[in-house]
Amino acid sequence: RILSPPPTFPALQASVGFALLAFVGAVHVVPRVSQAFVDKGLRGRDLCKPGGRVTGPWVPECLGLPIACWYIGLMMMFIPFPFSHIFSARDTDSSVGREAFPQTELTLYLSSLLSLLTATLLGFIDDLFDIRWRHKLPIPLVAAVPTLLVYYAEGGLTSVVLPGAVSSWIRSIGLDWGEAGKNVVDLGPIYYIYLLLLPTFTTNSINILAGINGVEALQALIIALSIALNDVLYLPIWPHAFLTRLGFGNPHEGRLLEWAAGEVVKRHLLSLYFVLPLAGVCAGFLWHNWYPARAFPGDTLCYFAGMAFSAVAIQGHYTKTLILFFIPQIFNFVLSVPQLFGLVDCPRHRLPLYDSKSDLLRPSLVHFEKPPPLKTKITLETLALLGLVHLERSNPSASRSDDPPLTRSKRINGSIPSTDQPATTTTHIVSSTNLTILNFLLVHCGPLHEQTLCLLVGAIQIACSGLAFGIRYGLGSLVYGG
Ligand code: UD1
Ligand code: MG
Repeated sequence: RILSPPPTFPALQASVGFALLAFVGAVHVVPRVSQAFVDKGLRGRDLCKPGGRVTGPWVPECLGLPIACWYIGLMMMFIPFPFSHIFSARDTDSSVGREAFPQTELTLYLSSLLSLLTATLLGFIDDLFDIRWRHKLPIPLVAAVPTLLVYYAEGGLTSVVLPGAVSSWIRSIGLDWGEAGKNVVDLGPIYYIYLLLLPTFTTNSINILAGINGVEALQALIIALSIALNDVLYLPIWPHAFLTRLGFGNPHEGRLLEWAAGEVVKRHLLSLYFVLPLAGVCAGFLWHNWYPARAFPGDTLCYFAGMAFSAVAIQGHYTKTLILFFIPQIFNFVLSVPQLFGLVDCPRHRLPLYDSKSDLLRPSLVHFEKPPPLKTKITLETLALLGLVHLERSNPSASRSDDPPLTRSKRINGSIPSTDQPATTTTHIVSSTNLTILNFLLVHCGPLHEQTLCLLVGAIQIACSGLAFGIRYGLGSLVYGG
C-alpha cells in the first residue's frame, strides 16, 4: 500500500534527456575550444608517449573547464524541472493544488551548484598557478561550506547506526544514547568535521589517481554510474520482496517509514538529477581523453567531479555509501600518505614510466642517493613486506661499477640512477617504486600498455563498486540488522 509508485517521474525523464545532451555537448565542445586553450599556454606534454617530458606530444590541458561550464549551465537550465508540478498545480486549480513551494529542495539544489562553481574556480586556479600540493589539499574545504550550511539548516542528521554487537556492548556497560535510540550514536560536531573533510578527500583522491590517458574521467564516470544505480534502488518501482532482501525493510532504521513519507525518494531523485548529466559529461570528455589523449582534464575536472560527488552525497544523506564507491581511491590515498606528508620524497610526477622500446609502462621510481632516514626505511620496508612497493637495495659486497641492484634498477626505470652513491658496508634502500595504485599494479602485473593499465583500473573500479553494493546491502544489513 505505502509503496504504490507514482505513475511517472517527469523530471527524471527530463534528466535522462539532459544527460544525453551533456554527453553530446561534451563530445562537441572539447575539440572546438582545444586550440584556444593551447593558444593561452594551457597545454601539457603527454608523458607516457615517446619523448616524454622533453619532446612528448603537446596536449591541450584543463579541458575540465569547458566540461564543468557546460554541466553547470545544463544544471541551471534544469532547475525548473523538479518543480514543474508546482507550477502546473497553481495554474490549473489554485484552491486545491496550491502547495507550498519546496524551498528546502531548491536551496539544496542551489547550494550544490554553488559548491560546484567554487570547486571549478579553485580547480582552474590550480591549473593556472600550479599550487603546491600541501596548499591545495585544504582548498575544497572552502567549497564545501555552502553545502554544509544548507545541510545544517535543513536539520541534517549527525547520527550513525552502530553494528548490533557494538550497540549491545554499549548497552552492557550501561551507556545510553538517549532519544537517538539504542543502535544510533549522535556524533554532533564530529560528523560535521567528517562532512567537511569528505570533499577534500573526493576531490584530491581523484586528482592523485591520475597521469595516464583516460584514468581520471573513467573513474569519475564509473563512480557517477554507481551512484546513479544506488539512487535508482531507492525509487518506488521495485517489488516489496526485493527491497526487503536489500535491507530496506529493516525496521530499526525506519527506512520504510521514511520512504512512505517520500523523503528518501526525494533525496535520491535530487541526487539522480545531478549524477546523470555528470555521467554524461564524463563519458563525453572520455571520448577525447581516451588513449591516445587529445585533451587533458586538468585539476579542474578532478575538483569539479569530486565536489559533485560530495555535494550530492551530503544532500542525499548517503555519504557512507559514497565512501564505499571510492575503495580504489582510498587505497591509492592511503598508499600515497608517506609521499604526500613528506615521509618519502614526492617527485612532481609519480605517474608510471614510459619505455619507448617496448611502448609499455613500468613502475616509476623514487631514488635515494643517501641511505634514507630510519622512519622512511621502516615505512618502505613495511610497504614492501605487504607487497605494495618494490625496493632496490644496495649490495655492499659488490663494487660500484657492477652493482646488480643498479643494473636491475636501470631495467625497471629506463633511466640511469645517480652514480655518486657512497660506498657503504651495509645494505640500504637505493630506490622504491612510487606509492600509487598505478605503480602497484605495474609491480604485480606489469609492464603494461597505457590503455591496458587504464582498462585495468576501470575494471578494478567496477569490481569495487560491486563490492560496495555487497557491503552496503548484504553485509550492511547483516552487521547492522536486528
Ligand atoms: C598529480 C599527481 C602526480 C601525477 C599527476 C598526473 C600526486 C601527489 N600528484 O599531480 O604524481 O603525475 O597528477 O596527472 O600524486 N599527464 C600525462 N598524461 C595524462 C594526464 C596527465 O602525461 O593522461 C601529465 C601531463 O604532463 C599534464 C600533467 O600530467 O600536463 C598534469 O599534471 P597535474 O594534474 O598538474 O598534476 P597534479 O594534479 O599536481
Ligand atoms: Mg591533476
